[in-house]
Amino acid sequence: MLSPGLIGGLTACMLTIFLPQTVQSRDAASAAKKKEVKPEMNVEVKPFGEIPEGQKVDLYTLTNSGGLKAEIMTYGAIVVSLQVPDRGGKTDDIVLGYGNLTDYLANNPYFGAIVGRYGNRIGKGKFALDGVEYSLAANNGENHLHGGIKGFDKVVWKAEPIKHRDGVGVKLMYLSKDGEEGYPGSLNCTVTYTLTGRNELKIEYLATTDKPTVVNLTHHGYFNLTGCQRDIMGHELMLNADLFTPVDAGLIPTGELRPVRGTVMDFARPTPIGARIDPDAVNRDEQLKFGGGYDHNWVLNGGGRSLTLAARVYEPTTGRVMEVLTTEPGIQFYCGNFLDGTITGKNGFVYKHRYGFCLETQHYPDSPNKPGFPSTVLRPGEKYQTTTIYRFSTRKAARLR
Ligand code: BGC
Repeated sequence: MLSPGLIGGLTACMLTIFLPQTVQSRDAASAAKKKEVKPEMNVEVKPFGEIPEGQKVDLYTLTNSGGLKAEIMTYGAIVVSLQVPDRGGKTDDIVLGYGNLTDYLANNPYFGAIVGRYGNRIGKGKFALDGVEYSLAANNGENHLHGGIKGFDKVVWKAEPIKHRDGVGVKLMYLSKDGEEGYPGSLNCTVTYTLTGRNELKIEYLATTDKPTVVNLTHHGYFNLTGCQRDIMGHELMLNADLFTPVDAGLIPTGELRPVRGTVMDFARPTPIGARIDPDAVNRDEQLKFGGGYDHNWVLNGGGRSLTLAARVYEPTTGRVMEVLTTEPGIQFYCGNFLDGTITGKNGFVYKHRYGFCLETQHYPDSPNKPGFPSTVLRPGEKYQTTTIYRFSTRKAARLR
């Protein structure tokens, strides 16, 4: 006897064979359309050139079913592009960067990179740990910035594709040797980027060491939710922080945690980035003068314990919304003050003053010299483990009255 399932299967098969051509092609077309609207989660890899020392660089392309597409290369673990739909479904690349490896090698102000071993500044490039003083490169005036001369943004990472229930991704691995850039201990790092089914770019950081050291890894993406059509001054920013860490003229925290309330640093309510950035020059906030605009660390409310909403950015003309969630206690909001139009990036876009903003989740700058800040020390047997999520959605335009 034939089972009902088998009969159904045969009928479907016969229908496919005997249906008139037009019906079949209409079916095929609608299937293709369906496919186009909801592409499968996928990860692909292709060569992206090689560095002068001869190491080959690969480019991983991650796609999800919500229209997101991320390109990530093994040099610097850099997010080269990130395609995100706007409120009308039109997709644009919303991160700054270059279209080829050569340009990244020539001049990269950390576009899209993983920064390490220590993201942001360490005062005078010195710190003491267990009674031993360590000296790092002074690559930012007298201070040490973003891991030194050859930080994690300038090395080739090993990589493998990943595909699991949560999404598709790439796992990047780098072994930073004992003494590299002056830091003690061999540091084994893994950074995993996942594009999830919830329209998130999730970054998981993991590191272990064989000697006591300091670690502070972050992602240095420059975002522009207009798709780089104009500067970022009209983006509305919310930072979930009541305090920030004021800095001196060299952008080193003074050690104070200062309330943002009533100051230009207050983003508790969504506020356009440009609303208070350039008030009249005479009364200009001292902190903004030091940074040439915003370039500070905010102390996240409830941060440093579990995954918490740190920031939300809304771009009114496209409706794009980006939320940042993190397990880190701080976030560096830098608004591209040092971009000056001398860099031409992907698709011929000229990156003028404040054409991109960074939201770098982190421990506070100069923590190795600030006993009052959450510690960045990692010891053998311990695990450095943090997670940050950049989540994308859209919002309808506000109605005009
Ligand atoms: C720093 C800025 C620096 C930028 C690019 C940010 O994390 O806070 O001061 O100019 O990175 O290097």
